[in-house]
Amino acid sequence: MAFDIEMIKAVYAKFPERIEAARKAVGKPLTLTEKILYAHLSQGEASEAFERGASYVDFQPDRVAMQDATAQMALLQFMQAGRDQVAVPSTVHCDHLIQAEVGATADLDKAKDKNREVYDFLSSVSNKYGLGFWKPGAGIIHQVVLENYAFPGGMMIGTDSHTPNAGGLGMVAIGVGGADACDVMAGLPWELKFPKLIGVKLTGKLSGWASAKDVILKVAGILTVKGGTGAVVEYFGEGARNLSATGKGTICNMGAEIGATTSIFGYDEKSEAYLRGTDRADVADLANGVKEHLTGDDEVYNNPEQYFDQVIEINLSELEPHINGPFTPDLAWPISKFAEAVKKHDWPAKLEVGLIGSCTNSSYEDISRAASLAQQAVDKNLKAKSEYTITPGSEQVRFTVERDGFLDTFGSMGGVVLANACGPCIGQWARHGAEKKEKNSIITSFNRNFAKRADGNPNTHSFVASPEIVTAMAIAGDLTFNPLTDTLTNENGEQVKLDEPTGLELPTKGFAVEDAGYQAPAEEGSSVNVIVDPQSERLQLLEPFQPWEGTDLNGLKLLIKAKGKCTTDHISMAGPWLRFRGHLDNISNNMLIGAVNAYNEETNSVKNQLTGEYGEVPAVQRHYKQHNIGSIVVGDENYGEGSSREHAAMEPRFLGVRAILVKSFARIHETNLKKQGMLALTFANPADYDLIQEDDNIDIVGLESFAPGKSLTVVLNHADGSKNEIEVLHTYNQGQIGWFKAGSALNLIKEKNK
Ligand code: F3S
Repeated sequence: MAFDIEMIKAVYAKFPERIEAARKAVGKPLTLTEKILYAHLSQGEASEAFERGASYVDFQPDRVAMQDATAQMALLQFMQAGRDQVAVPSTVHCDHLIQAEVGATADLDKAKDKNREVYDFLSSVSNKYGLGFWKPGAGIIHQVVLENYAFPGGMMIGTDSHTPNAGGLGMVAIGVGGADACDVMAGLPWELKFPKLIGVKLTGKLSGWASAKDVILKVAGILTVKGGTGAVVEYFGEGARNLSATGKGTICNMGAEIGATTSIFGYDEKSEAYLRGTDRADVADLANGVKEHLTGDDEVYNNPEQYFDQVIEINLSELEPHINGPFTPDLAWPISKFAEAVKKHDWPAKLEVGLIGSCTNSSYEDISRAASLAQQAVDKNLKAKSEYTITPGSEQVRFTVERDGFLDTFGSMGGVVLANACGPCIGQWARHGAEKKEKNSIITSFNRNFAKRADGNPNTHSFVASPEIVTAMAIAGDLTFNPLTDTLTNENGEQVKLDEPTGLELPTKGFAVEDAGYQAPAEEGSSVNVIVDPQSERLQLLEPFQPWEGTDLNGLKLLIKAKGKCTTDHISMAGPWLRFRGHLDNISNNMLIGAVNAYNEETNSVKNQLTGEYGEVPAVQRHYKQHNIGSIVVGDENYGEGSSREHAAMEPRFLGVRAILVKSFARIHETNLKKQGMLALTFANPADYDLIQEDDNIDIVGLESFAPGKSLTVVLNHADGSKNEIEVLHTYNQGQIGWFKAGSALNLIKEKNK
């Protein structure tokens, strides 16, 4: 396997000096996050303290991981960077393109056939440029990374927003766009605004129905979808040490739902057990040698208020299971209050489907605990009232839980095992009847529950809970059921109660797998050919974007003023569009089709200022492009939250949108826009959003003296001849202004590699 023990040795060798230098520079004890970040500075040892939430800092990540939907564009970009091999160990994981329909084997065969062109492309590029390639069916990126590559104290970036999953094993793991992955694979430093730090002190110990998932469901309720923006969430305390490594992974994974840059736990006995359990005793031995650097300093954890920007405390002994949703992961309900909420809000109480697994919750522990409930259903003569699916996170987990009989147990309860892939979690779900758009409820152990995400039906009320709660609910078929207190009527008409779930953190017989689905790269890749058919509708080689013309941008048409939530799913929808992730022109036909137009409250219907008619957003924009007219998109708060996909930035850039002006941005999306040479601007006064009118022609003034920290002016030329001049802000530093001027970050890389 492409596991690089020498790389880890080299990383740990730098720790003592670099951390000591950081302690001196900062002048106080350090959190774990600070230790890892300062140990990965691309400049080497720290000579100054960075300001949290303000300083832009260059880092040298140890690894890159990419999933197949995002890898296509990242690698198409990397191919333009002019290198023979990737600069750091990197992997590709084929997990997003497999549609769930009937069950694992048939769905996987169908996907291999349907996506052959893409898999062949990814496999050959990986082979040529030295990347590890995980074939379709091998598993979901974050689970495979946790099992094989994550290591305490490491730093990695991944082209998927749930990359922080590896924080469960003490790694600073951050979700980025393909353009960032391309930079790091090309050997360039990776820039990040030095994060703020949120400390979560865990006390006590989980028991009964409560699980690690409930920790993050509760944290999401406290911090909301924006509360972690620009921050790393560091968990510590005796409660943290009581959680399994995979449970920690679940918590870190879902930190993405509060907008956190990443989340992390320190190295402890549970991490060591997991490393040894996954055949990495050598890594555990190395980690034990630098143990004191793989956790925050004692003083920090003893007096957290002095060292973190915000501190939250949760007592695991008192934690109730939670159910979050619908439509947003931060609407948190303790289970004792959930039935009342269902009734009060008139959410459909009948549960149609319960789905467990995904990258978030498919550890051995999760599956074994859920299976203990499935076994009870069988033993107590209960028939599951809802459909029930199981998505294993990796072939290693699937093989092991099959060996240990859990898959059979689920089968006896009527469960269907899906492929080791994202499937319903990313909208790859051929759900029967979804097209009727009926109001209905589902519950998953996934991480996201935005409208339409799982099945494309805007009326599907999707709730998120632990695999245990999902399983109990699927047995009951009723969202008002509380498994902690309520009984169910079995097939004999008797009242029975489910006992608390039980399970094992790690398999007693160890993990096993026959074929993990890994392909190592060629030793020497120069003779490997990468073929992209010019006629392909799924892959398209890239053309560089045009550099800035050197003047202010005048006469931009307002393309859309988006109202309310505008996530990357609204900007570049997933589901059926995933097939075009490697073809910029074709995927651009989904640009902003999910955003709500503030003037008519409709989606995908905006006024074409040249014709006065309403049309679909991409069509109207293509019309402007034909006429060589630039445009601007206006948005609300936290614009671009959700996934890391750079398509959401590349599509508007490709179609000729010049600027995105919003009340506030989600971090990854803002960076992605900058990388693509787009202007990402925010209102100095958010109320100015209301001044934008539908027929506005807009000028952006001040670009000739575009400089860090200096605001720009936007002139709104209204149709009635009146004007407003407003101040807009940006967060570009000097380097990023260079990207804007060159037309994209990649244009600059190419220059440097020449
Ligand atoms: Fe895949 Fe869902 Fe995770 S899409 S990577 S399983 S969040």
